[in-house]
Amino acid sequence: MNLPEKHRIRAAFSRAASTYDAAAVLQREVCRALLDVLTNPGGGDCMPADILDAGCGTGYGARLLAGRWPTARLVAADFAAAMAKKTAATTAACVADIEALPFGNTSFDLWWSSLTVQWCDPQRVFAEAARVLRPQGRLALSTLGPATYAELRRAFAGIDHHRHTLDFSEPAPLVMAAEAAGFGDVQIVRRSITLHYPDLKALLGAVKAIGANALGAGRRNGMMGKAAWQALSAAYDAQRVGEGLPASYDVILLTAKR
Ligand SMILES: C[S@@+](CC[C@H](N)C(=O)[O-])C[C@H]1O[C@@H](n2cnc3c(N)ncnc32)[C@H](O)[C@@H]1O
Repeated sequence: MNLPEKHRIRAAFSRAASTYDAAAVLQREVCRALLDVLTNPGGGDCMPADILDAGCGTGYGARLLAGRWPTARLVAADFAAAMAKKTAATTAACVADIEALPFGNTSFDLWWSSLTVQWCDPQRVFAEAARVLRPQGRLALSTLGPATYAELRRAFAGIDHHRHTLDFSEPAPLVMAAEAAGFGDVQIVRRSITLHYPDLKALLGAVKAIGANALGAGRRNGMMGKAAWQALSAAYDAQRVGEGLPASYDVILLTAKR
């Protein structure tokens, strides 16, 4: 996977801490979907005493988990200090990289991470999750699959050959990485969620407002010319539907047992 350098990802998310909540419509919907999958009738035996929210952002997921398990001890971690600080207003939170967690072995019963692993090395993340989870502990994560931003890539196709989105992974390599780290009963649920924006500027503004605008090698350096921007807007506009410009999110919900 071609990931942006960590310091770029961290800086983009730190900058976005104050604008995140107003733009994080998808992120909240995905947290709710992940909790549903984790607590569905087949997974209803989940009664965690110690929970980690890995990559907590501003803390929406942590608050959702606290509402579901009010007596659990909850810790949230994010490597962007400004994000961790926002979460700390409502939940115990620390600045930490989820690829190298500052917690002892077997510290948690539930390791939760929503829309963060796409920015990470999944092998390292699963190895750390397995280390900090107790035997029989549960893992719940959401991430994005390759159909994410299909409309944006289609619009860019005739304009240039730069990379405009992350390289989102298919579920199969994630399942393999989870199993290689020792997880069993790995379950995948895949959902397509489409949001609509009035125009391209609003869509790209929303991506930037949540801090998801860092890209790795192959990205464009510098601004786009006016003619290219107009061509891109027209190409995206050709995909307009009644509700506006569509942006698809290929949401992968993965649950597993240690
Ligand atoms: C799209 S936000 C999701 C935040 C939150 N989970 C939510 O659902 O609203 C991704 C978050 O992951 C954090 N992040 C990305 N890579 C990380 C890493 N290696 N360690 C810790 N946090 C990371 C970012 O700083 C950002 O706050």
